Amino acid sequence: MTSRSAEDFDQYFSPSTMAQAVADVLASRFEHLTDTHFEVVDFCAGLGSLLEVVSERLPAACIVATDLDVSCLRLLREAHPLWSVGRIDILNERSRRASPLYVEGRYDAFVINPPFSGRGGHVVNVTFDRNLHFTCSRPLACLFHSLQSLRIGGLGVAVLPLSCLRSERDSVAVRWLERNMDFSVHSYHGRGCFSGASVRTVIVSLRRNPVADVASANAVGGQEILPPGRRRSDLVLFRGKVPVRTLRSFHSDGDGVVEARYVHTTDLRKTWSGWRTISVNSNVCLVREGVLFPRVGRISPNSFRAYSDSVPLVLSDCVFSVSPVRASVSLDDLLSILRENCRVFVESSAATGAPYLTVSQVLGLIDRLGFSVRVHQCRNRCLCHDSF
Ligand SMILES: C[S@@+](CC[C@H](N)C(=O)[O-])C[C@H]1O[C@@H](n2cnc3c(N)ncnc32)[C@H](O)[C@@H]1O
Repeated sequence: MTSRSAEDFDQYFSPSTMAQAVADVLASRFEHLTDTHFEVVDFCAGLGSLLEVVSERLPAACIVATDLDVSCLRLLREAHPLWSVGRIDILNERSRRASPLYVEGRYDAFVINPPFSGRGGHVVNVTFDRNLHFTCSRPLACLFHSLQSLRIGGLGVAVLPLSCLRSERDSVAVRWLERNMDFSVHSYHGRGCFSGASVRTVIVSLRRNPVADVASANAVGGQEILPPGRRRSDLVLFRGKVPVRTLRSFHSDGDGVVEARYVHTTDLRKTWSGWRTISVNSNVCLVREGVLFPRVGRISPNSFRAYSDSVPLVLSDCVFSVSPVRASVSLDDLLSILRENCRVFVESSAATGAPYLTVSQVLGLIDRLGFSVRVHQCRNRCLCHDSF
């Protein structure tokens, strides 16, 4: 690690096992190309850990390595005189344009282990293919700019913080990639894999498909904005926000206090009468009708519950609700469809290594069941308004 600004640059270099795992995914697609000219790029190359293994596995590959940090570039040039090496700030449009090594549609493949930071609230606006706009985390923004540099049909393999798959902030962008760019997860890696960084990571791959063939989406602030004339959402997904431990400090005062039921994962197997009644201000997140299911915890067909009552619900942070918009589907039909497809929810929740589902996963699953679904966006800090 270079000492001067290693932290600023997020220089957590890939250990050999991680680099091997990335190269395995790439090699499975390219190892038949023994004498064809093809180019592999890493725009956050660091000291070249990923590219070194790639070039061992794919000796025919022409290697292009760029980074923001000049001290990494100096070491890269010394160690790999045959590689094309240059300085690019991958998140800066002017820097990308100024470099002959950043060319849209040029590369056959990329590998990347982008800077991890931005795991907190930091977001970046990305324009992809000129008219698609996403707001996402910094690692995902690096992924989009790398994807833009691929030729159609090219393959990218990336190490991402697990938070990219689990956060609401990235859910719209990840879902778009899943739908349109064959985005898939290959392996999960626990904390301790990167020396000095306590971060869980995933290795993902994606393919550059032509955007003309895929539905366009404008995503601003994590919310998909459908162009006029496109069909509206059939369903709205609520992600509960209220932890059990905060219930004691829940205050309701003055006008507009309403009686509500609080529902936690363990309540989903009880009758409504067993659910806790609480008084809340009417501006908090209230769900009146929907099919509830666990966000955290094991899922079985019986853990999907339909709710429709005059007493609204406050959802625990371990519960999702999916609600039909304007009678697009009856609650009973929606419940049956979700129960029948319980297996895909179980498989997805197990895939994250712990029994829980992310917003992005649920959006993908419901989408595959043929519904268009949007996430209910909270307008205040953690509680959603009853807005539809
Ligand atoms: C997590 S390290 C990964 C390095 C190497 N690919 C590996 O796997 O060992 C991230 C790298 O991205 C570089 N970096 C950070 N911000 C960058 C930016 N905006 N543009 C280009 N590179 C950046 C850092 O200097 C660092 O070398």
